Parts: sequence; C-alpha cells; structure tokens
Amino acid sequence: MSSSQIDHLLEETRRFAPSAEFAAGAVATAALYEQAAADREGFWAEQARALHWHTPFTEVLDWSNPPFARWFGDGELNVAYNCLDRHVEAGRGGRVALLWEGEPGDERAVTYAELADEVKRVANVLTGLGVAAGDRVAIYLPMIPEAVAAMLACARIGAIHSVVFGGFSADSLRARIDDAGAKVVITADGGYRKGKVSPLKPAVDLALGERPGLGAQQTVEHVLVVRRGGNDVEWNDGRDLWWHDVVPQASAEHEAAAFPAEHPLFILYTSGTTGTPKGILHTSGGYLTQAAFTNRIVHDLHPETDVYWCTADIGWITGHSYVVYGPLANGATQVLYEGTPDTPHPGRWWEIVQKYGVTILYTAPTAIRSFMKIGRKVPRRFDLTSLRVLGSVGEPINPEAWMWYRRIIGGKTAPIVDTWWQTETGAIMVSALPGITETKPGSAQVPLPGISIDVVDEDGAHVGNGNGGLLVITEPWPSMLRGIWGDPERFVATYWEKFQRLGYYFAGDGARLDQDGDVWFLGRVDDVMNVSGHRLSTTEIESALVAHEAVAEAAVVGASDETTGQAVVAFVIVKESYLAEHSPEGLAGALRLWVGEQIGPIARPRDVYIVGELPKTRSGKIMRRLLRDVAEGRDVGDTTTLADAAVMNVISAQVH
Ligand code: WT7
Repeated sequence: MSSSQIDHLLEETRRFAPSAEFAAGAVATAALYEQAAADREGFWAEQARALHWHTPFTEVLDWSNPPFARWFGDGELNVAYNCLDRHVEAGRGGRVALLWEGEPGDERAVTYAELADEVKRVANVLTGLGVAAGDRVAIYLPMIPEAVAAMLACARIGAIHSVVFGGFSADSLRARIDDAGAKVVITADGGYRKGKVSPLKPAVDLALGERPGLGAQQTVEHVLVVRRGGNDVEWNDGRDLWWHDVVPQASAEHEAAAFPAEHPLFILYTSGTTGTPKGILHTSGGYLTQAAFTNRIVHDLHPETDVYWCTADIGWITGHSYVVYGPLANGATQVLYEGTPDTPHPGRWWEIVQKYGVTILYTAPTAIRSFMKIGRKVPRRFDLTSLRVLGSVGEPINPEAWMWYRRIIGGKTAPIVDTWWQTETGAIMVSALPGITETKPGSAQVPLPGISIDVVDEDGAHVGNGNGGLLVITEPWPSMLRGIWGDPERFVATYWEKFQRLGYYFAGDGARLDQDGDVWFLGRVDDVMNVSGHRLSTTEIESALVAHEAVAEAAVVGASDETTGQAVVAFVIVKESYLAEHSPEGLAGALRLWVGEQIGPIARPRDVYIVGELPKTRSGKIMRRLLRDVAEGRDVGDTTTLADAAVMNVISAQVH
C-alpha cells in the first residue's frame, strides 16, 4: 500500500434517480459525455462558440509550453459585451438581471438594459481616471448591484479586477492592493451586515495610509466610493470620488473593444487555510466559456423561466463564476442578497426564496449545517416549493447534511448537485448532472464532459475503483488558472511539480473512487490522519458524527498519540433541538461508541469535545490546523484568516 492510499470506512448506499419529467426538460443530455470523449478540444470549441467573438478563433488549445495553457488564442472577445450588450441587442434588455435585496429589506430590480447602461458609464469613468487595459483595479464592496457593475466595467475596458472580500481587514486589503499594484480602489462607505453598517471606506483609508513597515501605499491614484451605509467617512480631496457624483454624469455611450482570449480578466487571492495568499490569475475566453457552460448544464439553467440564486459573496471565486460571469453570460435572472442568513431573523434566506420564487439555489455545506443546527422548524415556515435544483460547493457535504438539504429544502424532489472545483479551476470540474446522474449523498461523482481527472497514488498510478488517493486533473481545461500573479515559479511548484513527469495538475485534495468509479472527496491531503498506520480522512469520520441525531456539525483532527502515532480528536456542535431535550453529559461517550459502530474501532475518537462554534475561514471552511493546536495542547497558531478571532479562545476554554 503506498502512502497516499486513504482507507475507506463509511458505506453509503442511498441512490436518487432524477424523475422522468425532470430528465425530459433538462438542459444537459447524456450525449455531451460522448461528444466530449470523442473530441475533447472540438467539444470545448463548440461550447466557446456559444459566446460572441469579435474575432472568431481558429486555434483551440495551445499546450506547447506546459503548464502555461492558451485556449482559443487567436480569438478576440469582450467579456462584458457577452454578459450585457449581447442580450440587449437580442431584444432581451427588459429582462431582470438582478433581483437585489438589501439586508434592511430595501430592494431593487435591475434589468439587463439598466445594468449595461451603468457599466458603460462606469467604464467611461474608469477610463477618465486613467485606467487602461491591463491596469489593476481593487474592488472592496458589499453585495450591491454596483459591485457587479464595477467588475463588468473593468472587464469591458480590459482592466484586471481584484475583488477583495468586504470582511477582510485593512491589512489584508493592503497586502492584496500592493501585490497587484492597483491603480484604483472601488469601495463603499459601508454595507449592512448583521443588522449594522459595517464600514468599508475607513478600512481603505487605513490600508492606503502609513502601515507599520510598509509606509504609505504608492500605486493607488483614486478611490471611487459608493454611498450605501450612510456612515460618516473622511475624504481625501483629489484622490476620492463619490460614485453618485461621477457615474450618472458620465456618458452611457461606450463601445466594447475586443481583447484577445488570453487577456487577463481578474486576479483573485485564495482564502488559504495555509500559507500566504496567492493571486490566482484567470483570463477571458476560456474562463467565460467554462463558467457559462457549467452554469447551464450543472444548475440546469433555463434563463427564460428560472430565478437563480447563488448565495456566495462576489469576494470568492463562486461569486465571480456563478454570480457574475456565468449567469450574466447566460442571460439569467438572479437574486443578489446583501446580508447574512440570519438577519433580522433565522428564516431570512427562506423568506427570500419564497418572495422571489427562487428555482435554483446554490450554496455551501457550512450554511446547510448551520440551518440543521437551528432545526427544520425555521425553513418549514416558508413556501419553498419553487425550488427545483439545489447545489452545494466549498467542502465535502456530509451525507446527512445532503439528506437534510434534500428533505427540508428540496421537498424530496429537487436534485442535488455536489460540485467540486477550486479558485484555481475557475469553474465546476466534478459534479452530477441533474436529469442524468443518479445521485449519491456525499459524492461529487463524475467529471463534467470535457474534463479529465484521476485518483492516483504517490507515483501517479491510477488507484482503481474502491481505493483512495490523490485527486489530479490530467488534461488542461479552458477555465484553468493561467498562473499566480507575479510568481510563475510558485505556480509551477504548487500545482505541477508533484506529477511533473505526467503533466498532471495536483489539486491538494484526497479522494476515493467507489465501485462504480464515482468520486468521493475526502478533504485536504494535509488533514489526513495516520492512526496505527491507517490513513483516515477527516471527511468520513465527520460524516459519521453528523449522522448522529444530536450532531449538526463536526470537525476531526489527528493529534499526536504515544501509542497510535496519531489519535482522532473530534469537536462537535450539537443541534439546538437535541439540547432542549437531553443533557450533553454522556454524549461524548455515546458519540465515541457511535463512530466505532458506524465505521469501526480504528476511527473511534480518543476525545470528543462538545463546542459552541468551530474555527472557520471567512469563506466558511473549517481550519483544522487550529484545532490540532488545541488537541495537542499547544498555543494556537496564526489566526489571521479566521472569520471570528474570538472563537479559538472560547474553544480552548471549553476544552481545558
Ligand atoms: C477547495 C477549493 C470551489 C469554489 C469554492 C471554494 C474544497 C470545494 C468541494 C466539494 C469537496 C470541495 C476542496 C477544494 N471543495 N468544493 N464539492 N466537495 N470539497 O474554492 O476556496 O478555492 O477551495 O474546496 O478542498 O480544493 P476554494
């Protein structure tokens, strides 16, 4: 057994076939798999031709200088034209693009014609500020229509945007602005979060000013500020401009120029559970092709009739590909919500689904588990019958969370697609297709048509069905990252060196192939535990814990142990309904036994800690590294990427 083999412990036998009715109306057909298998590049060329090309491409893939790919290299297009003008010129300008809901309950419907108009004005403003093609623009905004307009305005003039999540601190913002050398920052006075105005402009001022060891920021010439929060802000005359003073006054005439397919579209810094952030670079033609195509086939998007809602913030790749570029290229009507899921009440998301008749919902397991913790009573108060497709992204979804999502949110009928991809892949890579795939709770299942993956051992050899190993991508794909901004060596070292001889991209994730060859993601390889020589994935033990009636969420880590090398240590959050009827005493012991029964004695946690919260990144991923510190009795390490810095103190206190 090679060292990359990951033992398989948990058996999941439930299967859900799509209804005949759903299958009959589905966008994707099984023929896509055959077409792609017969001629992969021809297949992607056909998907790319669904876009408007100012200059049609004749080359498809140039892989002569791996790992630096060129897709559709001699073609030219304008990404914003594809997302806006194209729909307006086809007579669909009156269709609503954005159904925006502010956290306090204010609302705005923005049509494609209105959004195109706004984007043209912002493009003219940016050009007037001296922003040219290839210049970088940092965007630090709440989830408001102006955020979408700002991104598309950059795309329209060939400027490279770097969106920084509004929850990041001034120092994180400064590091990203410096690394990209941004010329302009687009921000707001503030935005609504958890019932309050959370200030943004003051963080920009702080970021651009004198910072310890860095001095004052050098590259930013202007700050464009949207008024949203109404909070007081300081003003730097000459540098700062109010959006409402310059955008409405700007001309709405703007011709979209053509840019080469490989023209950079954006830089996005990975959230990073480890290491310093990397500026992931994406380009135009291939990225837009795969974002739009996957949004249609995976979410089964029917733009004329669906009301689509991807809950991700535009500060993450999911917000780029499945709020902005994919859905708008497809002419979708979508909900954009500014606030948090529980403000002003815990049913806020379900109220929005009911209000707008949302048909497609795309969200993250962390959100689903937090709704499980509160209980089904909350969603049950709302009419969710409009929902017909549910998606999940960001982490492995535990089978019990999947079942809860299906029963309580999907009314036992909506297919669930568990979509695996990364900031680096730009778009969905592995997922069921609704209407085709018989789904399995907890499995992302199959590579999409046109995508080639494998699960291999340390030597790059296929592990075979029934075995676990390392997930690799074996062929280049259109929306792949083109590099790390300013650091080509790190790009090669991080993703391509491990399987250099084979030319495989190493994703950093563990995965297992079941007897049917379907893929089950097992979490980051760095988190795999080694107990008495058995390599155990965090995902399966966490899923076993979540399958217990008491548990809403769980994180397990391997802590050093004198007898077994590492021992499993579990941190669990208990459901509110369970706490109301049971005392937590005895639960830890019961959970140890439960895991032993579910998956075997080897996986039985040495310690189970009942906690109130888990440490997460701002995008909702559990930071197991910090829990390992607690489990091994160390001082907790670097907590700067934690969403809530106080959480580790609470957990440490609960454990000791
Ligand atoms: C990492 C990428 C993809 C956009 C949001 C996250 C994990 C993501 C799944 C899934 C199992 C998943 C992986 C991956 N991940 N989706 N469906 N099943 N794991 O983007 O922040 O770049 O994170 O998220 O570990 O490598 P990201």
